[in-house]
This record gives sequence, C-alpha cells and structure tokens, in this order.
Amino acid sequence: MLPDAQTPPDASPDGGALADQLGRPLRSLRVSVTDRCNLRCRYCMPHEEYVWLPRPELLTFEEIARMVEVFTSLGVVDVRLTGGEPLLRRDLPHLVRMIAANPRIHDLALTTNGVLFAEHAEALHAAGLHRVTLSLDTLRPERFTALTGRDTHAQVLAGIAAARQVGFPKLKLDTVIMRGVNDDELADLIEYGRGVEAEVRFIEYMDVGGATQWTAEKVFTRAEMLQQLASRYGMIEPLNENSSAPAERFRLPDGTVFGIIASTTTPFCKTCDRSRLTADGFWYLCLYAQAGIDLRQMLRAGATNEELAARIASVWRARTDRGAELRAATGQRGALVGIEQLRQDPHLEMHTRGG
Ligand code: GTP
Ligand code: 5AD
Ligand code: SF4
Repeated sequence: MLPDAQTPPDASPDGGALADQLGRPLRSLRVSVTDRCNLRCRYCMPHEEYVWLPRPELLTFEEIARMVEVFTSLGVVDVRLTGGEPLLRRDLPHLVRMIAANPRIHDLALTTNGVLFAEHAEALHAAGLHRVTLSLDTLRPERFTALTGRDTHAQVLAGIAAARQVGFPKLKLDTVIMRGVNDDELADLIEYGRGVEAEVRFIEYMDVGGATQWTAEKVFTRAEMLQQLASRYGMIEPLNENSSAPAERFRLPDGTVFGIIASTTTPFCKTCDRSRLTADGFWYLCLYAQAGIDLRQMLRAGATNEELAARIASVWRARTDRGAELRAATGQRGALVGIEQLRQDPHLEMHTRGG
C-alpha cells in the first residue's frame, strides 16, 4: 500500500488505478523537451528543413515539472525525457533535478542520440537521472554518415563509454533495422553491446509520422532478425517476461540478452500504458494519434493542478487508441503522413512526439 499522501486522487476505493476503455493504466509519460534534432536519421527526419514549434510556445522547465507532478498524482511512475534530441535543450540537468525530486517516480530515463551525451553525462547523473537509452544504428562511421546526414559517429561511441564511466547502470542501445541499410549488422551490434555492457534492442522500421520514406519492403521483421541471429548463434531462448515494455527479450546460448521491438508486425497496444507530452504542451494518447489535447492552454490560463488532473483523468478514461494495431490491419500500407501535411502540422512528426 502507498502511504496516503501518495495515493492517486483518482484511485478507486479498492486501490485500482485510473484505467482507459481497454483497462490500460496510465503509468508511463514520455516528455519531449524539444522538437529539434542534430541528426537527420533517414527513418525519422529524412529532410533537411523542418517547421519548428515556435519558441514562446515551449513549456518552461517549471511548467514541465508541474505537468509531471500532475501526471504522477494520477498514477504515472515512469517518466522518460525525449526529443527530438533532448540534449539540445539548454540546462537539461536542471530539469532532471526538478523532476527527480518527485518521490512518486520509480524510473526517470532519457532517450538520446548520444552525440552530445559525453559532455553532459556527469551532470545528468549528478542531477538524479536513473538511466539512459542511446540510439546506435551502425558500427560503421561511413554508414552512420549516410544514415544520419552527419559525421558524428565517434561522438556517439564516446557517449556510450561516458555513460558507464559516470556510473549509469547497464545501458540500452536502440537500433532501427532497415532492409538494405543495416540488416547485416545484427550480430556485430550484439558483440559490441557485450563489450560495452549494453543491452541492444533491434527495432522494426515503423510507419510513424515523419517516416516519409517508409515502405513495407524496407521493414526487416522480427522473424527475419531471429532467423539471422539463430544461424549465427544457434538456439535463441525467449525470456517470456510479463511486462508492458515494448521490447521482447531473448537470450543467446552464451547468456547475452538482447531485445526486439516489433511494433510494426506485432503491435503491443493491448498493454500500452504510455502517453506523450510534446515540448509545447500537447498530450498525445498514441504515437499514431491524429490529434492531441492542448494542456498548455489550460496551464497558461491559470488552471489548478486539480483541474488539470481532472481533465487528464477524464480523457484517459475515454481512451481507446490502438494505433499500431490498426495500422497493422491496413491492407495497402505506405507512409502514414505525407510531407505536405507534416509541414502544416509538425505535431504529427515522431520527432515532435518523442521517439
Ligand atoms: P525502456 O525499455 O524502459 O528503456 O523503454 P522503452 O522500451 O519504451 O524504450 P524506448 O523509449 O527507447 O523506445 C524504444 C522504441 O520503442 C521507440 O524508439 C519506438 O520505436 C518504440 N516505441 C516507443 N514508444 C512507443 C509507443 O508508444 N508505441 C509504439 N508503437 N512504439 C513505441
Ligand atoms: N521506426 C522505428 N523507430 C523509430 N524511431 C524514430 N523513428 C522511427 C521509425 N520510423 C525511434 C528510434 C530512435 C528513436 C529516437 O526513435 O528508436 O532511436
Ligand atoms: Fe500505444 Fe498507440 Fe503505440 Fe499502440 S500504437 S503501443 S496504443 S502508442
């Protein structure tokens, strides 16, 4: 039992948490602190120029910390800071310190592309960040440049080394596998991960907003990943964990554990307990949702924490989203949103909603 002061105001008398129409609790909040990014990954931001969120509309650190406070009063215990690239937001450790002071949070994590991580690792750790997930799609510098449009592979590797040096627990490395781009590197990445004590997770290429070059043929599926790894390593044992995390975990004969996030071919909507807050205060109930809830307007109009909590609770209770499942059921699947529509509404972009 939680002590009284920590009981979510919306909890039912039997202690059950706030649940949506499919019985899914509100446990995880992904907070995008900026929509900007210093890479141009082909699967996420393939274009050079984008329409950015207007600066005055970005939530201040005080506003973000307050929103997190309200969400945690409703049962959120996992908070992840994302971007774009979150380290482009100045003084991020200051925000981490403000959020880490909230005792309801069990897990405070950061998703970063790693380019700027080495220079901020120490300060982030000292500020109370619990753990870090870094993106690493290739071990080959020339391939990195072709995939991201920038020549900063060495900085990412330095970021990975720094994470362990400053005392973060075992890292997770996120790798989006695209057919014909990096589908020949699975084993190399597993070997690299073992060397730096990181758990590698292979992600199927998703048809999210922003992925304007997505085609079904470019998806290297979970089944193909397992087949390739089995031919190299032999028996692969599924760990069969019961969790709402998107990654399924597997063990190789030598004990090395890796993950697969197969949200394109095997969506995990049934257990999805996550929602997303954009840097300008829009709340999205699904990665694939067409529209979000404008919480910034309420906040800046002087709403109290209780009023914000009541609004959030009523929206969550009505939630029916299962975007990835609906996409998977689509017969002729192509890019979700065209570039013209993305330019008109940057909220549709994955980099605005948080990767
Ligand atoms: P941890 O395992 O706790 O580190 O978090 P996580 O599994 O959520 O990892 P992370 O935030 O690094 O997300 C990994 C990838 O999972 C993302 O880059 C997406 O490709 C996918 N993913 C994350 N959130 C969602 C979501 O809400 N819906 C879907 N369909 N996919 C998601
Ligand atoms: N497919 C899968 N994952 C994606 N990400 C961004 N775009 C896509 C996509 N089209 C995720 C990746 C990346 C993180 C920032 O967002 O995991 O590492
Ligand atoms: Fe959750 Fe939507 Fe992603 Fe499904 S597609 S897992 S409902 S965010």
